Amino acid sequence: MKIFETIKQIQFYIETAREKGGNIGFVPTMGALHQGHISLVQAAREENDVVVVSIFVNPIQFNNPDDLDKYPRTLEQDSAMLKSEGCDAIFYPSVTEMYPKKVSKNYDFGALAKVLEGACRPGHFNGVGIVVKKLFDIITADKAYFGKKDFQQLAIIRKLVQLENIPIEIVACDTMREKDGLAMSSRNRRLSKRERAIAPLIYQTLKMVKKEMDHKSPKELEGLALDALQPNFKTEYFKLADGHSLQAINSWEETDYHVALVAASLGDVRLIDNMEL
Ligand code: PAJ
Repeated sequence: MKIFETIKQIQFYIETAREKGGNIGFVPTMGALHQGHISLVQAAREENDVVVVSIFVNPIQFNNPDDLDKYPRTLEQDSAMLKSEGCDAIFYPSVTEMYPKKVSKNYDFGALAKVLEGACRPGHFNGVGIVVKKLFDIITADKAYFGKKDFQQLAIIRKLVQLENIPIEIVACDTMREKDGLAMSSRNRRLSKRERAIAPLIYQTLKMVKKEMDHKSPKELEGLALDALQPNFKTEYFKLADGHSLQAINSWEETDYHVALVAASLGDVRLIDNMEL
């Protein structure tokens, strides 16, 4: 497995792989890898000749400087995990390699970017759009793998591919969870023992909503969910939405694709999760 730190090096590697006729699968990440990331790498490994993973903590998608500072960075462990999964190459650029100049692009993702994470984290999806477009330009893969854990991000990436006419197939992968249901996340390692014990309540609440949807309206369920989380979490949103547009729904009849999405903090650790209903 090779590790490339410059754009030139990884481009040369990709060109060479292409000349040999290989299919390229790409998994963009910010590192601090866990089994959720690894499930994407495994999917890419099964479907492609060459697997490339990028590790880049993208500063322009963090709206909170403290969150950026505290984001775990564990390259040694990450590269050992990737090697044992049969990853072929890691792209590990510095911030100046990716952004030699100040970036000023403004994407218009429409209503999709104005709700949920887009509303709570101004500029976040613009930063994600800029870095993913740049990565797709550098690593011209056939397929790129994203997790449903970041459900809205996945919708934004699909929109980006459409807006920019990028010739790549986006593959959506299921959320990997701990045994107690907590969605795996690089941020989980910042939870205290007490917070870690409470955190699975998010998944339990999502399951409760799924179970009750035949008996209650979306608004009733949002209220129940907020009540369930209220004593322990600082909940930013718990919303039932149309799975395509991510716009909130008032009745089940508005769409046939329903998803519940939640963002809730324990201390200074912000957790997100979702469930297709
Ligand atoms: P990061 O949070 O490192 O996540 C990288 C990929 O792993 C994303 O597609 C994410 O949805 C997926 N992932 C995270 N936790 C998962 C889980 N429990 N199960 C399945 N997949 C999971 O998302 C980003 O990085 C960045 O925004 C990025 C796209 C790399 C752009 O900077």
